[in-house]
Amino acid sequence: MNVESKIARETVAAPIDIVPTGAALGAEVRDVDLKAIDARQFAAVKHAWHRHQVLLFRGQALGDQDLIAFSRRFGDLDFAPVQETGRRFVEGLPEIYIVSNVKQNGEPIGSLGAGEAVWHTDMSYLEKPPMASMLYALEVPPAGGNTSFCSMYAIHDALPSDLKRRIAGLKIKHDGTYNSGGFLRQGVTPSDDPRTSPGAVHPLVCTHPDTGRQMLYLGRRRNAYLVGLELACSEALLDELWRLVDRPEFKWEHVWRVGDLVMWDNRCTMHRRDPFDDATRRVMHRTQIKGSASPA
Ligand code: OGA
Ligand code: MN
Repeated sequence: MNVESKIARETVAAPIDIVPTGAALGAEVRDVDLKAIDARQFAAVKHAWHRHQVLLFRGQALGDQDLIAFSRRFGDLDFAPVQETGRRFVEGLPEIYIVSNVKQNGEPIGSLGAGEAVWHTDMSYLEKPPMASMLYALEVPPAGGNTSFCSMYAIHDALPSDLKRRIAGLKIKHDGTYNSGGFLRQGVTPSDDPRTSPGAVHPLVCTHPDTGRQMLYLGRRRNAYLVGLELACSEALLDELWRLVDRPEFKWEHVWRVGDLVMWDNRCTMHRRDPFDDATRRVMHRTQIKGSASPA
């Protein structure tokens, strides 16, 4: 091949191989080593992430420092959240949150146990929630523990126009009392009054700061509250919106293998996890990348 055609080939060749899941969201990025991607590949990953909302990278071999280094390319990291077991993180690395049912000397090494984790987005009870989470599989059970994602763009776009009108301008309280496993966060007073429970208030319909697309921002169902409404009206309207969430056309389910890294956009997606047998082991390490602004 002469030099000219070699240059032409290199400029047209996509720097990474992206295979969409075919569902409402999600794509697999093939044949990359996240420890060694160059600036061009990184730009393509970021672009694909904005477009597909959730990216899967299989077959990675990442140490905790590698996970931190790849995560940092997107921005500063948040510390692990406070969960039912406190702030469970990797020794010396408070930015690595451990999701696990494993116990060592009778003490859980992580959070969320082996039960179902209901639909939620991470840490939206903060004024500035993380914009992304990266979850890396170190040990997976032989069955169960699948994680599903749904597109809050797709759900927004599917709202009947009369419902869109009814929710225009509303704000929603995202609860900070309970986590997705149904556990009380350590140090928080139990509360089942959504009007007064701790949390952060965000617009119910937000514009994504990077893509400019509109999305419904629900966070989690328990103790959610539409600010200013009678409690019964808030509950009824939230139930109406949540009925859309579990529809198959808006979601994609991931079956984990060891070495998978899944990165999701924490603003325009929600996720949930199936339960699994607590006699088996599941160990995941997660980073959370700071959002630059409050959702608006
Ligand atoms: C998370 C989470 C679910 C899972 O890490 O934010 O919700 O599949 N995990 O472990
Ligand atoms: Mn989560």
